[in-house]
Amino acid sequence: MGFFVRIDILTLFPAMFRGMLDSSIVRIAIEKKLADVRLSNVRNFTYDRHRSVDDTPYGGGPGMLLRPEPIFRAVEAIAWTEHTAPELLLMTPQGEPFTQHIAQQLSLKKHIAIICGHYEGFDERIRIGLKPWEISIGDYVLSGGEIPAMAIIDAIIRLLPGALGDQQSPESESFQNGLLEYAQYTKPIVWRDMPVPEVLSSGHHQKIRDWQFRSAYERTLARRPDLLEKFLQKNSQVLDKSKNTSFPP
Ligand SMILES: C[S@@+](CC[C@H](N)C(=O)[O-])C[C@H]1O[C@@H](n2cnc3c(N)ncnc32)[C@H](O)[C@@H]1O
Repeated sequence: MGFFVRIDILTLFPAMFRGMLDSSIVRIAIEKKLADVRLSNVRNFTYDRHRSVDDTPYGGGPGMLLRPEPIFRAVEAIAWTEHTAPELLLMTPQGEPFTQHIAQQLSLKKHIAIICGHYEGFDERIRIGLKPWEISIGDYVLSGGEIPAMAIIDAIIRLLPGALGDQQSPESESFQNGLLEYAQYTKPIVWRDMPVPEVLSSGHHQKIRDWQFRSAYERTLARRPDLLEKFLQKNSQVLDKSKNTSFPP
């Protein structure tokens, strides 16, 4: 069986990825050959005496910028598989905000390459010449693109068929269907005067599903009304038809 997805990571700090690639669901997915993750050290693509990857900005300004040559060479050195170029991602706080929807789109790709920045940023020609999909993991600034790349890789890999064990499924997780996930309980049935809602141990599947839907709905309304509005717009027809029946429709 071939790999579901190949992911190339272009970074100056490959060692940062060892912990995440060797742990938990990502490690198991790699062992099951669902994902083939390869690390490229951008510094290996410098040919000058000092192996310099960065330099001062023209026009002045603080910090150092990644030079274009090693990044272009590293991207071009990735062996294109099946005659298709990879989906090229650039980690930047100026990019499109990363969402579960983007993770789902990326989980369908055969080959992804991720450029991790560092220092003050990139020479603009990396954007102009390579035309990557620029992605941000939130409105804050980290020191490098490695942690954003790890977040994205984890979100993609757990969506690959077979990555989560039989017992787990991404289906009911937050964002997957447009709502936050419902409240959940495990043993003991009562803890410090806080009982598990009775319905959850009733064995009545439809009532449990109704309760879970209500919980997800109320939680989304309280915490993320923006998500609920989108969910209602998307599902208005289905919800309308099912007014007198149980949720989820
Ligand atoms: C210190 S940041 C540079 C920020 C840049 N000077 C700016 O204002 O846009 C260094 C690198 O970390 C990565 N990075 C930092 N914050 C990020 C975020 N929120 N999402 C994605 N990548 C981020 C990017 O690769 C970025 O080039």
